[in-house]
Amino acid sequence: MLPSIKLRRDVTLVEVGPRDGLQNEKRHVSTADKLDLIEKLARSGLARIEATAFVSPKWVPQMADHDVVMRGAIRHPGLRLSALVPNEKGALAAIAAGAQELAIFTSASETFSAKNTNCTIDESLARFVPIIELAHAAGLPLRAYISCACDCPYEGAIDPTAVASLAAKLCQMGDMEIVVSDTIGMATPDRAVRVIAAVLEALAGTTQIAAHFHDTGGKAIENVAVAWDLGIRIFDGSIGGLGGCPYAPGAAGNINTMKLAEYFEGRGISTGVNLEALCEVNAMAQSWQRP
Ligand code: HMG
Ligand code: MG
Repeated sequence: MLPSIKLRRDVTLVEVGPRDGLQNEKRHVSTADKLDLIEKLARSGLARIEATAFVSPKWVPQMADHDVVMRGAIRHPGLRLSALVPNEKGALAAIAAGAQELAIFTSASETFSAKNTNCTIDESLARFVPIIELAHAAGLPLRAYISCACDCPYEGAIDPTAVASLAAKLCQMGDMEIVVSDTIGMATPDRAVRVIAAVLEALAGTTQIAAHFHDTGGKAIENVAVAWDLGIRIFDGSIGGLGGCPYAPGAAGNINTMKLAEYFEGRGISTGVNLEALCEVNAMAQSWQRP
């Protein structure tokens, strides 16, 4: 039993630092350090952690140790370890290594889809068919990121209706949490409201929606606040504010999980996280960042 996992949570924080954070770090982070990070995050009370990505090591060398990380990561009944997977090959490997959730990813921008996964949006959906079947057969939950929900690094502003219709298509393919993702981190609260409201309307309460804000423009916490007001109760964060996407030039890391936890606890909204323990992991993660 992890000592600090609390039961009560009014909001769910999904820690994506070991994946979204470390995929973009230029400094080499050893497999042992990754496993230590995941354990410390779990011990701070975070119940959902995206541990690694079963993507091509040629595309993202930082995630090349995905198998060892997933197999070696701490397990606990209150903890769900997720793996990012782009295709059937990744899903098979992730399940064999003990992933407890599969995270698929597509984009509301064709150019980003091509740059990030070498396929069109429709081709990415076709790749999800066997992943969804595998997840279903293994009894694993799924989450689906929609990248470029606000802006694309190549195409500029994205129409919220395109995001909403993509979310609806994904939900027709199977049960999954939809993750509205501000990949380049330049969303403002009014634009965050527009896209989340469009997705909420399209899905009409049929599925959970999570918000994934990068924080390049410094407005991520304001975006979290308006998303909460719209009824969103699942938020992604990256400890230390680590990372970004290697195929989204200039994008900063996700909103720092520490900032998210302090924000919600400060409002009396329980996160289930021990702030003191998280603060120590935050310092460790920040020490890994390049100046
Ligand atoms: P491709 O080159 O078109 O793939 O890449 P392919 O099918 O032609 O295969 C080429 C080689 O890759 C083959 O190996 C395959 O076996 C191998 P070779 O014969 O050359 O030795 N391969 C794999 N190896 C390991 N795991 C796999 C896998 N699949 C094929 N799963 C592919 C297509 C999708 C694989 C590639 O583009 C890729 O891996 N992309 C991942 C990019 C990525 O991870 N980006 C960052 C994560 S997304 C993100 O950060 C956004 C998010 O945070 C939300 C947001 O903020 O917006 C989620
Ligand atoms: Mg991201």
